[in-house]
Amino acid sequence: MSEEIRINQSATREEIYRELLPQAKALLSPEPDEIARMANLTAILHEIPGFFWVGFYFVKGNELVLGPFQGPVACSRFSIEKGVCGAAVRENRTQIVPDVDAFPGHIACSSLSRSEIVLPIRDASGKVRAVLDIDSIRLDDFSEVDEQYLMHFLELVKLN
Ligand code: SME
Repeated sequence: MSEEIRINQSATREEIYRELLPQAKALLSPEPDEIARMANLTAILHEIPGFFWVGFYFVKGNELVLGPFQGPVACSRFSIEKGVCGAAVRENRTQIVPDVDAFPGHIACSSLSRSEIVLPIRDASGKVRAVLDIDSIRLDDFSEVDEQYLMHFLELVKLN
């Protein structure tokens, strides 16, 4: 199958998600390795205009440790007591931060980041095993629409 991702750069965010979802499904579903699926998912979502950093952090003890990502180099690890990612783990729910400078404890891995969304990824028992973190160069770039679609993408990387 083709391993090129097609995207209409001038479409709306929702149209882009709808265009990408079947392509992601075709690419990721046959792959049994979770890291391979996560890695390609970051590459797919990184195609979306504004998304300059897309990656996973794994929960390891009391820390979040960097997993597959696309974008500039990022913090390798930090405490789950910190940051937007830490809040997603501790509260076990999605965090949408319209302005990262206004979020107390935000960890600035890049000065380009203006807004951020972080979704928890749970295992079969409901425990948070990882998070998906997306940083945008645009202020207020994420809404519940992003959360809903990103949850569908995350179903394709289900962790065991
Ligand atoms: N900003 C995140 C840290 C990870 S970087 O954005 C890649 C946070 O506050 O949790």
